[in-house]
Amino acid sequence: MGKLDGKVAVITGGTSGMALAGAKLFVDEGAHVFITGRRQDALDEAVSRIGHGVTGVQGDAANLDDLDRLFETVEREKGSIDVLWASAGGGEAAALGEITEEQFDRTFGLNARGTFFTVQKALRLLNDNASIIMTGSNASLGAFPGWSVYAGSKAAQQAWARVWLNELRDRRIRVNVLTPGSVLTPMQEAVLDEGAKAAFESIIPRRQMGRPEEIATVALFLASDDSSYVNGLELVADGGTTAL
Ligand SMILES: NC(=O)c1ccc[n+]([C@@H]2O[C@H](COP(=O)([O-])OP(=O)(O)OC[C@H]3O[C@@H](n4cnc5c(N)ncnc54)[C@H](OP(=O)(O)O)[C@@H]3O)[C@@H](O)[C@H]2O)c1
Repeated sequence: MGKLDGKVAVITGGTSGMALAGAKLFVDEGAHVFITGRRQDALDEAVSRIGHGVTGVQGDAANLDDLDRLFETVEREKGSIDVLWASAGGGEAAALGEITEEQFDRTFGLNARGTFFTVQKALRLLNDNASIIMTGSNASLGAFPGWSVYAGSKAAQQAWARVWLNELRDRRIRVNVLTPGSVLTPMQEAVLDEGAKAAFESIIPRRQMGRPEEIATVALFLASDDSSYVNGLELVADGGTTAL
């Protein structure tokens, strides 16, 4: 028996990296999973890699019309949602003094505004006892030069989790933040040279970046009844980097 038998999960930005690893694991555990991404070819490839129990819906998690279309599709095909994982996010390094309005708006537009409206628009479809997971970043807990916009855009999630779990208490909906440290996703592998990777690894106690599968298992914990008494938590999965 799977930990998510008969459940419906929606994962934004699920065509690569941690969220794709999570989508595969959720399906292995019995869920039907909807994944999203902007590029149709990457979405098609992810759907075929997962193989069954998955529906791909093309769309940008920062675009509110795309979010409406996503949840209309979910409603039409499955009716309701048990697990909502707002994972789509990203950012780029820029030091204070050099940050453009466009960079600020793009980062907050996806990580903060997009995440906020992903949850708000899903609300009408969420079943009682549903689990909401947002992907944060340990950048919001540290003091990494160049990452203030990204860190700020992720920090909002912790405040939202606390308010929302109180607003949603009668529906027994749990809201948690999954906060990874550096994880070697295919996209990171493509952009990090050896020097940059070594710099990331130098601050991780085990001196090795995380693997997407190590975040997927944390997401499964938060998605399933294994975490039925866990609510409002920021679960930091960064190998102890923040603790140092
Ligand atoms: N990797 C890390 O070290 C790390 C550390 C801490 C936190 N995080 C956070 O973890 C989450 C996932 O990161 P990741 O590195 O695993 O993923 P990723 O490899 O950067 O991206 C995963 C997928 O998300 C899709 N995506 C990106 N922007 C999107 C958007 N606006 N709307 C819909 N889909 C979108 C991408 O497909 P398309 O390009 O086709 O849309 C991509 O295939 C993000 O929120 C990120 O900020 C990452």
